[in-house]
Amino acid sequence: FITPLTLQALTGYPVHTDLLDETTEAAMGHIELAKWADLMIIAPASAHCIAQLAIGSAGDLLSTVTLACTAPIMVAPAMNQAMWSNPRTQANINTIKTFGLHVIDPEIGEQACGDYGAGRLPEPEAICEAIVEQCSPPLDQLQGHYVVITAGPTREAIDPVRYISNHSSGKMGYALARAAVALGAKVTLISGPVSLISPDGVTCVQVVTAQQMLDASLAACPTATVFIGCAAVADYRVQTVMAQKIKKDNGEPSLSLVKNPDILTAVRKQYPSLYMIGFAAETEQVIEYAIKKREAKQLNMMVANDVSDTAIGFNSNDNAVTLITEHGHQPLSKASKHEIARTIMQCIATTLVQPLGVDKR
Ligand code: CTP
Repeated sequence: FITPLTLQALTGYPVHTDLLDETTEAAMGHIELAKWADLMIIAPASAHCIAQLAIGSAGDLLSTVTLACTAPIMVAPAMNQAMWSNPRTQANINTIKTFGLHVIDPEIGEQACGDYGAGRLPEPEAICEAIVEQCSPPLDQLQGHYVVITAGPTREAIDPVRYISNHSSGKMGYALARAAVALGAKVTLISGPVSLISPDGVTCVQVVTAQQMLDASLAACPTATVFIGCAAVADYRVQTVMAQKIKKDNGEPSLSLVKNPDILTAVRKQYPSLYMIGFAAETEQVIEYAIKKREAKQLNMMVANDVSDTAIGFNSNDNAVTLITEHGHQPLSKASKHEIARTIMQCIATTLVQPLGVDKR
């Protein structure tokens, strides 16, 4: 879609397309290209390109430069969802990972061809963030810590085709899992049904209902040091799930609801010394409600967010939150969920390596 000249004019840098470029080959241009970079990124990386990387092909400029490059290499795949989920592409992805290439997970959503699924190129901001993360020196503040995170919504069946749920996308919980791994923690992510790809280096447990999320949480916690309840747990489930689809000809149905167990409360009861963080999604009196919830659920930290603002609420890539502890509260201004997640994990790490009860505001 874009000519080399367009990119050259916009960036002010030469654009190379040929393996054997007469103007530079006297100096082995394709090898020189591989040498100067601190990091190489292929975005978008097609299924064909990834296959070439997997077999170490050197048939064109891109594959040759990749093979000759000793700097870290990042790959942002982008392709049709069926091509992405094809076992051959997945085998190639695993192969390039074992060679040390870093793969940025594609996004799930509507595709140019009209299909829906995984394979969309992440937004440029997300790719930039992945590059910054890759270039940052490795941190180990959470080395030796085991972090359990719940994420996404839960679904409570009404009948075989209908359910009660909410708008949670899971993005915040998944970003927290990535941020915890980046700080050296061992991470288990217990996720309700979401359209996100499991982050690398994280043990993922997929659940559907609140009860399943509770069971998985209690099972994961015996050796955990940190528990983050980021899931939007459905507070109620129907008393009796209908075995057959409810038919509208049978009159107006009425649903009897019963309360679901509170996961944070149950985990706290069983694990009194765990460092626990909750999320309070509120539409009004955000801080007041969050302070009360932190105390009621006996949490070390409550992260309050205002979900009435659709630009930062459910399903958005951004968030603006306030961290509430027993010492007061600290607002974090609007930023990407990845950035907010990194700040929250840094804050937890600082608290865990220093004795609790020190006010660091
Ligand atoms: N939570 C939980 N188990 C539930 C409901 C909520 O562990 N059954 C956790 C959430 O993961 C979140 C925190 O409790 O960390 C606050 O969730 P929220 O829905 O804001 O509060 P609720 O306790 O459900 O109260 P309400 O819906 O009345 O605001």
